[in-house]
Amino acid sequence: MRPSRDKCLYGGRGSGKSHFFAESVVANAANNIGFRVLCIREVQKSLKESAKRLIEDKIQTMGYGSMFNIKHDEIETPGGGVITFTGMNSQNSESIKSYENYNIAWVEEANVFSKKSIELLRPTIRAKGSELWWSWNPDSSDDPVDKFFRGLTLPDDAIIKRINFDDNKYFPDELKSEMEQDRKNNPDRFAHIWLGDYAPQAVGAIWNMANIHSNRIHNIPTIGRIVVSVDPAVSNTENSDEHGIVVGGLGEDGKGYVLDDVSLKGSPQQWAERAVAVFDKWDADSIVVERNQGGDMVRHTLKTIRPNINIIDVVATRGKHVRAEPISALYAMNQISHVGSFPELESQMCRMTASGYDGSGSPDRVDALVWMFTKLFPSMINRPVKRTSNRQPSSWMS
Ligand SMILES: Nc1ncnc2c1ncn2[C@@H]1O[C@H](COP(=O)(O)OP(=O)(O)O)[C@@H](O)[C@H]1O
Ligand SMILES: [Mg+2]
Repeated sequence: MRPSRDKCLYGGRGSGKSHFFAESVVANAANNIGFRVLCIREVQKSLKESAKRLIEDKIQTMGYGSMFNIKHDEIETPGGGVITFTGMNSQNSESIKSYENYNIAWVEEANVFSKKSIELLRPTIRAKGSELWWSWNPDSSDDPVDKFFRGLTLPDDAIIKRINFDDNKYFPDELKSEMEQDRKNNPDRFAHIWLGDYAPQAVGAIWNMANIHSNRIHNIPTIGRIVVSVDPAVSNTENSDEHGIVVGGLGEDGKGYVLDDVSLKGSPQQWAERAVAVFDKWDADSIVVERNQGGDMVRHTLKTIRPNINIIDVVATRGKHVRAEPISALYAMNQISHVGSFPELESQMCRMTASGYDGSGSPDRVDALVWMFTKLFPSMINRPVKRTSNRQPSSWMS
């Protein structure tokens, strides 16, 4: 590739993006004394999520084993350089400065890299001839990296390349059969996962990603009331649904905020423990649980973990998507913000349509979300719908 400050590879799964950049990291470090590389992602909870293992493998297969010193959390490169692995979540505007004289920053999974992270990282990497490498599987045209590198005005001199599995001469058989399966059964998924198109939106969806993105914030505002909302799955087997557990609050500004999604599969004991833990974490006021499926079992399960917890139980009298619509209306009026991003919850939301859920499994995270805002915005949800010819806007609209 010609020299340029930004090098981007985006596209579908299995196109060889990670392998290509990992090999390039090793080749550069082997051929340039004291070379420094920062492998960075938005969130790195452990080294397992990083490219460290892949880079170690490349050092071996490329025959450079004796030149590198692999340590627990970094790799020393020939002549006193280093390959460092970190997440933006553990950096601030001060700490990031320690990477100023790095030669390359490789941003992995750049589709979830925030605008703020892009703005912090770019001026940090400033050594003479330094480069930023970006690899990602696209999700939404609203994602900051897509706006930055696939928008109307592009940074000077950037190399931006879309690649897919058919560009990968090492595309393994295991991935090939998975890909063929999707090509046959699920064209939408095929185009998104394997061809690198943006994620499809269900036709007639009552939420849309653009709205969620444009209202998204990253710092927690002042919140009045916080609730944890649980939609417990009925059974607990390998194929059971997830227990939806979502946390949200009502801000002092009167808007709604989604704060956490800690949904999980598991036993009743496990969801109850998780729900109580997240209740404590957010110092919540109450727990909302849907009662009709497990009856008093749900209440009982919670009380065995925390006897005096404040439970609000709700009973479903209307169908899922009917309950969901007033909440999607709140979103449409920009009354709800997600604090951070919740990919699984958000993709379930964008598959809820006026006639039901258009995804696989059951939309447990959405259910929990809907109950949560139903309780946080009671006035709008419980008011009787007047079907007169001359409808007045409800009070919450004024
Ligand atoms: N340079 C390479 N050498 C060996 N195998 C490769 C190479 N590039 C890609 N592969 C194979 O293709 C698969 C997909 O590559 P990967 O880099 O993980 O793709 P992506 O990051 O685009 O999803 C890898 O798991 C590996 O089996
Ligand atoms: Mg990859």
